[in-house]
Amino acid sequence: MKPQNNLQKNMGITLGIIVMLGVLSVTIFSNSQSVNTPVADTSSQIPTSTTTSKTSPVKKVPTPVVTSTTPEYTLAQVATHSNSSSCWSVINTSVYDLTSWINSHPGGKQAILTICGKDGTTAFENQHGGQRRPEQELASFFIGNYKK
Ligand code: HEM
Repeated sequence: MKPQNNLQKNMGITLGIIVMLGVLSVTIFSNSQSVNTPVADTSSQIPTSTTTSKTSPVKKVPTPVVTSTTPEYTLAQVATHSNSSSCWSVINTSVYDLTSWINSHPGGKQAILTICGKDGTTAFENQHGGQRRPEQELASFFIGNYKK
Protein backbone atom coordinates (compact mmCIF):
# COMPACT_ATOMS: atom_id res chain seq x y z
CA MET A 1 0.00 0.00 0.00
CA LYS A 2 2.86 2.38 0.82
CA PRO A 3 4.57 2.38 -2.64
CA GLN A 4 1.16 2.90 -4.25
CA ASN A 5 0.52 5.83 -1.93
CA ASN A 6 3.93 7.36 -2.79
CA LEU A 7 3.27 6.98 -6.52
CA GLN A 8 -0.15 8.57 -6.12
CA LYS A 9 1.42 11.43 -4.12
CA ASN A 10 4.09 12.02 -6.78
CA MET A 11 1.50 11.91 -9.55
CA GLY A 12 -0.63 14.39 -7.65
CA ILE A 13 2.28 16.77 -7.09
CA THR A 14 3.33 16.52 -10.77
CA LEU A 15 -0.22 17.17 -11.96
CA GLY A 16 -0.48 20.06 -9.56
CA ILE A 17 2.73 21.57 -10.87
CA ILE A 18 1.55 21.13 -14.49
CA VAL A 19 -1.79 22.78 -13.71
CA MET A 20 0.00 25.63 -11.85
CA LEU A 21 2.38 26.14 -14.77
CA GLY A 22 -0.55 26.16 -17.18
CA VAL A 23 -2.42 28.73 -15.13
CA LEU A 24 0.72 30.86 -14.79
CA SER A 25 1.48 30.78 -18.50
CA VAL A 26 -2.12 31.69 -19.37
CA THR A 27 -2.01 34.62 -16.89
CA ILE A 28 1.33 35.92 -18.22
CA PHE A 29 0.19 35.56 -21.84
CA SER A 30 -3.09 37.38 -21.31
CA ASN A 31 -1.34 40.16 -19.34
CA SER A 32 1.27 40.70 -22.02
CA GLN A 33 -1.52 40.98 -24.60
CA SER A 34 -3.51 43.55 -22.60
CA VAL A 35 -0.36 45.62 -21.98
CA ASN A 36 0.65 45.57 -25.65
CA THR A 37 -2.68 46.92 -26.94
CA PRO A 38 -2.55 50.40 -25.27
CA VAL A 39 1.15 50.75 -26.15
CA ALA A 40 0.28 50.25 -29.81
CA ASP A 41 -2.51 52.87 -29.48
CA THR A 42 -0.29 55.57 -27.95
CA SER A 43 2.46 54.97 -30.50
CA SER A 44 -0.06 55.53 -33.28
CA GLN A 45 -1.15 58.83 -31.66
CA ILE A 46 2.34 60.30 -31.39
CA PRO A 47 3.01 60.71 -35.14
CA THR A 48 -0.41 62.38 -35.55
CA SER A 49 0.42 65.11 -33.01
CA THR A 50 3.87 65.74 -34.47
CA THR A 51 2.37 66.05 -37.97
CA THR A 52 -0.10 68.75 -36.86
CA SER A 53 2.67 70.77 -35.18
CA LYS A 54 4.71 70.58 -38.39
CA THR A 55 1.85 71.70 -40.67
CA SER A 56 1.02 74.87 -38.67
CA PRO A 57 3.98 77.28 -39.15
CA VAL A 58 3.27 80.91 -38.16
CA LYS A 59 3.64 83.08 -41.27
CA LYS A 60 4.06 86.86 -40.85
CA VAL A 61 1.85 88.74 -43.32
CA PRO A 62 3.21 92.24 -44.13
CA THR A 63 0.81 95.06 -43.19
CA PRO A 64 -0.40 96.81 -46.38
CA VAL A 65 0.38 100.53 -46.53
CA VAL A 66 -2.79 102.36 -47.57
CA THR A 67 -2.17 105.74 -49.23
CA SER A 68 -5.41 107.43 -50.28
CA THR A 69 -4.54 111.12 -50.18
CA THR A 70 -5.96 113.93 -52.32
CA PRO A 71 -3.43 115.03 -55.00
CA GLU A 72 -1.63 118.35 -54.51
CA TYR A 73 -0.50 120.63 -57.33
CA THR A 74 1.84 123.61 -57.38
CA LEU A 75 1.27 126.72 -59.56
CA ALA A 76 4.17 125.50 -61.75
CA GLN A 77 2.27 122.27 -62.42
CA VAL A 78 -0.97 124.15 -63.12
CA ALA A 79 0.94 126.43 -65.57
CA THR A 80 1.59 123.42 -67.83
CA HIS A 81 -2.21 123.24 -68.50
CA SER A 82 -2.76 126.73 -70.00
CA ASN A 83 -4.81 126.23 -73.19
CA SER A 84 -8.01 124.78 -74.64
CA SER A 85 -6.52 121.28 -74.97
CA SER A 86 -5.88 121.19 -71.20
CA CYS A 87 -7.06 123.99 -68.93
CA TRP A 88 -6.33 123.89 -65.19
CA SER A 89 -6.94 126.81 -62.86
CA VAL A 90 -6.34 127.64 -59.19
CA ILE A 91 -9.38 129.10 -57.41
CA ASN A 92 -8.89 129.77 -53.68
CA THR A 93 -7.25 126.62 -52.21
CA SER A 94 -8.18 124.16 -54.95
CA VAL A 95 -7.17 123.18 -58.48
CA TYR A 96 -9.81 122.64 -61.19
CA ASP A 97 -9.67 121.08 -64.64
CA LEU A 98 -11.92 123.43 -66.66
CA THR A 99 -11.10 121.92 -70.09
CA SER A 100 -14.60 120.56 -70.70
CA TRP A 101 -16.19 123.78 -69.35
CA ILE A 102 -14.59 126.08 -71.94
CA ASN A 103 -17.24 125.34 -74.60
CA SER A 104 -20.08 125.06 -72.05
CA HIS A 105 -19.63 128.31 -70.11
CA PRO A 106 -22.72 130.57 -70.46
CA GLY A 107 -20.44 133.60 -70.18
CA GLY A 108 -18.35 132.52 -73.19
CA LYS A 109 -15.10 130.64 -73.94
CA GLN A 110 -12.81 133.62 -73.47
CA ALA A 111 -13.74 134.11 -69.80
CA ILE A 112 -12.44 130.62 -69.03
CA LEU A 113 -9.45 130.67 -71.42
CA THR A 114 -8.06 133.79 -69.67
CA ILE A 115 -7.68 131.86 -66.39
CA CYS A 116 -6.16 128.61 -67.83
CA GLY A 117 -2.76 127.79 -66.20
CA LYS A 118 -3.21 130.67 -63.72
CA ASP A 119 -4.69 131.62 -60.37
CA GLY A 120 -8.26 132.53 -61.39
CA THR A 121 -9.52 133.37 -57.89
CA THR A 122 -9.94 137.14 -58.43
CA ALA A 123 -11.59 136.73 -61.86
CA PHE A 124 -14.05 134.12 -60.58
CA GLU A 125 -14.89 135.90 -57.31
CA ASN A 126 -15.39 139.27 -59.08
CA GLN A 127 -17.85 137.67 -61.52
CA HIS A 128 -19.51 134.92 -59.53
CA GLY A 129 -18.69 135.48 -55.84
CA GLY A 130 -21.69 134.32 -53.74
CA GLN A 131 -23.56 132.92 -56.77
CA ARG A 132 -24.86 129.44 -56.06
CA ARG A 133 -24.90 127.89 -59.54
CA PRO A 134 -21.37 128.90 -60.69
CA GLU A 135 -19.94 127.65 -57.36
CA GLN A 136 -21.76 124.32 -57.64
CA GLU A 137 -20.55 123.92 -61.23
CA LEU A 138 -16.99 124.78 -60.21
CA ALA A 139 -16.95 122.02 -57.53
CA SER A 140 -17.57 119.36 -60.20
CA PHE A 141 -14.19 120.19 -61.81
CA PHE A 142 -12.09 119.68 -58.65
CA ILE A 143 -8.92 117.60 -59.23
CA GLY A 144 -6.79 118.37 -56.16
CA ASN A 145 -5.51 120.81 -53.56
CA TYR A 146 -3.35 123.82 -54.35
CA LYS A 147 0.13 123.51 -52.86
CA LYS A 148 1.77 126.92 -52.33
C1 HEM B 1 -14.01 129.45 -63.35
C2 HEM B 1 -15.12 128.82 -63.41
C3 HEM B 1 -16.43 129.40 -63.82
C4 HEM B 1 -17.57 128.74 -63.71
C5 HEM B 1 -17.76 127.34 -63.15
C6 HEM B 1 -18.61 129.59 -64.21
C7 HEM B 1 -19.92 129.24 -64.24
C8 HEM B 1 -20.93 130.05 -64.76
C9 HEM B 1 -22.32 129.71 -64.76
C10 HEM B 1 -22.91 128.46 -64.18
C11 HEM B 1 -22.98 130.72 -65.33
C12 HEM B 1 -24.46 130.82 -65.57
C13 HEM B 1 -25.04 131.51 -64.35
C14 HEM B 1 -26.55 131.60 -64.40
O1 HEM B 1 -27.14 131.68 -65.49
O2 HEM B 1 -27.12 131.58 -63.29
C15 HEM B 1 -21.99 131.68 -65.69
C16 HEM B 1 -22.30 132.89 -66.33
C17 HEM B 1 -21.39 133.87 -66.59
N1 HEM B 1 -20.05 133.85 -66.34
FE1 HEM B 1 -19.06 132.29 -65.49
N2 HEM B 1 -18.08 130.77 -64.62
C18 HEM B 1 -16.75 130.69 -64.39
C19 HEM B 1 -15.81 131.68 -64.62
C20 HEM B 1 -16.14 132.93 -65.14
C21 HEM B 1 -15.19 134.01 -65.32
C22 HEM B 1 -13.73 133.94 -64.91
C23 HEM B 1 -15.84 135.02 -65.88
C24 HEM B 1 -15.37 136.36 -66.25
C25 HEM B 1 -14.21 136.86 -66.00
C26 HEM B 1 -17.20 134.61 -66.06
C27 HEM B 1 -18.17 135.37 -66.62
C28 HEM B 1 -19.51 135.02 -66.71
C29 HEM B 1 -20.54 135.88 -67.27
C30 HEM B 1 -20.35 137.28 -67.84
C31 HEM B 1 -21.71 135.17 -67.18
C32 HEM B 1 -23.07 135.64 -67.53
C33 HEM B 1 -23.46 135.14 -68.90
C34 HEM B 1 -24.86 135.55 -69.28
O3 HEM B 1 -25.70 135.59 -68.39
O4 HEM B 1 -25.09 135.82 -70.45
N3 HEM B 1 -17.35 133.34 -65.59
N4 HEM B 1 -20.77 131.26 -65.35
